[in-house]
Amino acid sequence: MRHPRSVLARRAGAAASAALLMLAAYAGPAAAGAEEGRAKAATCVACHGENGNSTSPAFPSLSGQPKQFIVSALFQFREGKRQNEIMTPMAAKLSNADMNDLAAYFSAQPALAPQHKTAPANVEKGRQLSVQNNCVACHAANLMGQQHIPRLAGQQKDYLRAQLASFKASTRGEMDGVMTSAAQALSADDIDVLADYLAGLPVAAGAR
Ligand code: HEC
Ligand code: HEC
Repeated sequence: MRHPRSVLARRAGAAASAALLMLAAYAGPAAAGAEEGRAKAATCVACHGENGNSTSPAFPSLSGQPKQFIVSALFQFREGKRQNEIMTPMAAKLSNADMNDLAAYFSAQPALAPQHKTAPANVEKGRQLSVQNNCVACHAANLMGQQHIPRLAGQQKDYLRAQLASFKASTRGEMDGVMTSAAQALSADDIDVLADYLAGLPVAAGAR
């Protein structure tokens, strides 16, 4: 392991929290918004699935994602830090209050057990890769994410693979560059194994 966990987690947190603190100041009280978010989410669920549980390989699930991560992702799309031909125009229409309400709603929806079954050979390989590469230090031991760091457990496999490949290619924008660094050590084969492993991981209850 290259870095002690606490240093990694702190480094990831410090840079992102500065930007998010600014956003929180605009966005208002954190507890509010889940009900408002339900109504605003009507257009989102066409792609992200009912209650944010995606059934389509290229569309990520939003259910059970940490609230702060969802706000951070929407903010990055709107500000052009993260580019996507579908999500950039979607996010352009959202106010800070909309983003906060949508995040409150989706983060409160339980993540459903994944449909994906990890190939038996990749269960132990994937677990080892996730420890050796510190994935568990930042994304939490159960890989359900925390704060501005996303849930990976039970996420769509094709989506995970595409995101890891684009972090490695430095084409996925992110708040502070930690994932682009983390992905450099991964081979194409590691990425396939990790996507297969993570997509089949059970989702823990009570995630934020
Ligand atoms: C037409 C389909 C479509 C619609 C409608 C849509 N999205 Fe998305 N969304 C996507 C795709 C595709 C991605 C993956 C983008 C990428 O590859 O970076 C995405 C990514 C996201 C992400 C990042 C998730 C992650 O794990 O990184 C968030 C958050 C998000 N969408 C929220 C929303 C919200 C909120 C709405 C409704 C206001 C919405 N989306 C509507 C297709 C859609
Ligand atoms: C130093 C902390 C850190 C480490 C180590 C780390 N991650 Fe991340 N990861 C993050 C952060 C922060 C984000 C969100 C980046 C953003 O969008 O601003 C992220 C995002 C991701 C995403 C995008 C998911 C989505 O829904 O958009 C994937 C996939 C991912 N990480 C997988 C991994 C894997 C696999 C490993 C181990 C090989 C790993 N991460 C190691 C902090 C980390």
